Amino acid sequence: MISGDIINLTDKYIAPTYARYGVELVRGEGSLLFGSDGKRYIDLGSGIAVNTFGAADKDWISAVSAQLEMLGHTSNLYYTTPQAELAAMLCEKTGMNRVFFSNSGAEANECAIKAARKYSNDKYGAGRHTIITLKGSFHGRTVTTLAATGQDSFHHDFAPFTEGFVHIEAGDLTALEKELQKGAAAFMVELIQGESGVKVLNQNFVKDAMKLCEKYDTLFIDDEVQTGNGRTGKLYCYENYGIIPDIITTAKGLGGGLPIGATMFGDKTALTLGAGKHGSTFGGNPICSAGALSVLKRLDDKLLEEVKQKGEYIKSELSGCKGVKSFSGMGLMIGIEVYGQAKDIAGECLKKGVLVLTAKDKVRLLPPLNIPEKLLKEALCILKDAIISSETKGE
Ligand SMILES: Cc1ncc(COP(=O)(O)O)c(C=O)c1O
Repeated sequence: MISGDIINLTDKYIAPTYARYGVELVRGEGSLLFGSDGKRYIDLGSGIAVNTFGAADKDWISAVSAQLEMLGHTSNLYYTTPQAELAAMLCEKTGMNRVFFSNSGAEANECAIKAARKYSNDKYGAGRHTIITLKGSFHGRTVTTLAATGQDSFHHDFAPFTEGFVHIEAGDLTALEKELQKGAAAFMVELIQGESGVKVLNQNFVKDAMKLCEKYDTLFIDDEVQTGNGRTGKLYCYENYGIIPDIITTAKGLGGGLPIGATMFGDKTALTLGAGKHGSTFGGNPICSAGALSVLKRLDDKLLEEVKQKGEYIKSELSGCKGVKSFSGMGLMIGIEVYGQAKDIAGECLKKGVLVLTAKDKVRLLPPLNIPEKLLKEALCILKDAIISSETKGE
């Protein structure tokens, strides 16, 4: 049985912002998690794309604990090896020039927005501050990243929001150019919209949008908070599109379980945020950086190939399954459109020992990148049954 005390304590003392499942998780081993009642779960969610190599990964623990023994925290008034090495490796692997470290995806995006507005202000003067984003996007929970988020449902209750954001339909190049002609600091996108249903942006739209941004000197910001760090079978998802963004943001899977955000700047904005223009007490903290460095080192071609193969395997196992309408996504970021209710399917899977996520009306899978095939197979059998029985109930 789950411990009633923890649920009561949580419900009594923690702000009620989350709809939680009635399970208390206490420990994990790779892609397996265990509840306080001893129940075993196969994890197809990775703490929402965070636990890149699953729970209690040995390499990650040794990198983090070695750093913990040396120096847990210092301020950004001083230099530290893990932070410097992480920045260098991110730049070497992406071709970007500079990195700013923060603690979350929302902060990584805030930093990108600040840099884009300053770039525009420095070069063209005040007023050219608009950030164009897409309808259906999700960029974070701060007041500014909520303003960036292109979904009306996030725009209640907290007004006034930060000014200067416009949302256009994905695929609408005419609308994009119209906004660019007015003068805009940046166009910010998730190449695969995760929260709104694992919606993959069209290749031609992205390439043409990039060209238009170049024409108007509007920065292309690529939000890779969810798609980044190997998730789609490339180190970063932009590689699937043959573009080079001006700014890339990431978080989640980079830290492998510890909070870190990174905003990577290309040529145009490498030096835009000068001394005193941005900062963070914890950003790039030695422990988080050491963990991230150990994750990044392991995201090599072999692993990325495995991610692609496992993604294909998931789709082939589930295709033709009664109750599945369609798939979306890339690599191990998969959306499953179902005839039944995604939430019911997630609940049924949980009962049977598999953790899956939902995104709007889809089932969303974001398993650890190194999930063993045997566990994946076992989990997919359970998921398949849950999808079929949910479809049958809906009949
Ligand atoms: C694409 C994208 N951007 C930004 C965020 C916000 O990240 P965080 O929750 O770390 O602030 C998320 C989180 O789900 C995300 O998926």
